[in-house]
Amino acid sequence: MAEVQVNNLSITDDDDIVDPWNVSGKSETGIDYDKLIKRFGSSKIDNELVERFEKVTGQRAHHFLRRGIFFSHRDFHTILNLHEAGKKFYLYTGRGPSSESMHIGHMIPFMFTKWLQDVFKVPLIIQLTDDEKAMWKDIKIEDARQMAYNNAKDIIAVGFDPKNTFIFNDLDFIGKCPAFYQNMVRIQKCVTFNQAKGIFGFGESDVIGKITFPSIEAAPALSTTFPFIFGDKVVPCLIPCAIDQDPYFRMTRDVAPRLKMPKPALLHSTFLPALQGAQHKMSASDPNASIFLNDTPKQIKNKINKYAFSGGQATVEEHRQKGGNTSIDISFKYLTFFLEDDERLAEIKKAYESGEMLTGELKKIAIDTITPYVQEYQARRAQVTDDVMQRYFEIRQIEL
Ligand code: TRP
Repeated sequence: MAEVQVNNLSITDDDDIVDPWNVSGKSETGIDYDKLIKRFGSSKIDNELVERFEKVTGQRAHHFLRRGIFFSHRDFHTILNLHEAGKKFYLYTGRGPSSESMHIGHMIPFMFTKWLQDVFKVPLIIQLTDDEKAMWKDIKIEDARQMAYNNAKDIIAVGFDPKNTFIFNDLDFIGKCPAFYQNMVRIQKCVTFNQAKGIFGFGESDVIGKITFPSIEAAPALSTTFPFIFGDKVVPCLIPCAIDQDPYFRMTRDVAPRLKMPKPALLHSTFLPALQGAQHKMSASDPNASIFLNDTPKQIKNKINKYAFSGGQATVEEHRQKGGNTSIDISFKYLTFFLEDDERLAEIKKAYESGEMLTGELKKIAIDTITPYVQEYQARRAQVTDDVMQRYFEIRQIEL
């Protein structure tokens, strides 16, 4: 079998592709996340870690943790140790803005980040990489900035508190913050072109902006990038993100000790699959591939009924006899993300697998679970005016 080097890791033809620009699984059950942990050299979020989390925080773990939706980590024990010792850290996450409206899959890391912020009561920094999108997607600088502001409103509507949340877009903020640029240059001095090629697969004909970009995504993981928040204090960082962003932070973790800074810790999420099934890419440009945050109840209902890949059998008789397959059924998969009640989920699983519950009934439960979630989100989104947004972007001291 052909072995090639990608991201400094050996992969074969059989392996799923997961990097910052491509995510695609080879099997109908989706990406093999355990294999990814081995390939990336991260650690599994196991029961022991979830239990320790509950003990240290005194709170029930989020269902994303209990169900392995956040499945992998780096140094999360260190963060729990800090919390136990009464010491602070900060959260950092981000998004590459896109013109299309956000879909529910984009919300996963943000929903979880909000919950972490509530549990730990720590500052949160959100980076919008409009520069990244301008370089990778042939989008005008002006348009990329505008997309960043629109996406910021979508993110704010998840419910972040302006008291301890700072949001910035690279194209406007970096020029106002000398400490940011200085950390970028410190990072740039530590990484050779060969290393960047190895980690990110850059080639000779990539524009030079792409080659320096990783330093821009890495810099916010160092507290000294934000002197107006942290002064010159060294504060450890925890990054919740989808697993495809890990290459940036492998690089950051490599560089940090050389800059006498702590390595950022990470919590990695899986991906919400496309409605058409786990092998299909959830594309933001295909309106039928996902539920969008501005979909109407009618659209949600139609999409799930029409497109959500079913693990059910071809006929009712066959289904009653053999039962449905929850490991490939997208309506069930979406319920694992959006239905918080563990007992109810277990009942549904049992009923569907035994053939007692039909696909149509399962789809109805998915529709009834996701629709109110989207409607509540839309009500919050309607409140986010330009003025509200401005508060998050102001360069200021936030609550520590
Ligand atoms: N590159 C990410 C994207 O395209 C955006 C991003 C910037 C990010 N900083 C981050 C994501 C930190 C997670 C964590 O979506």
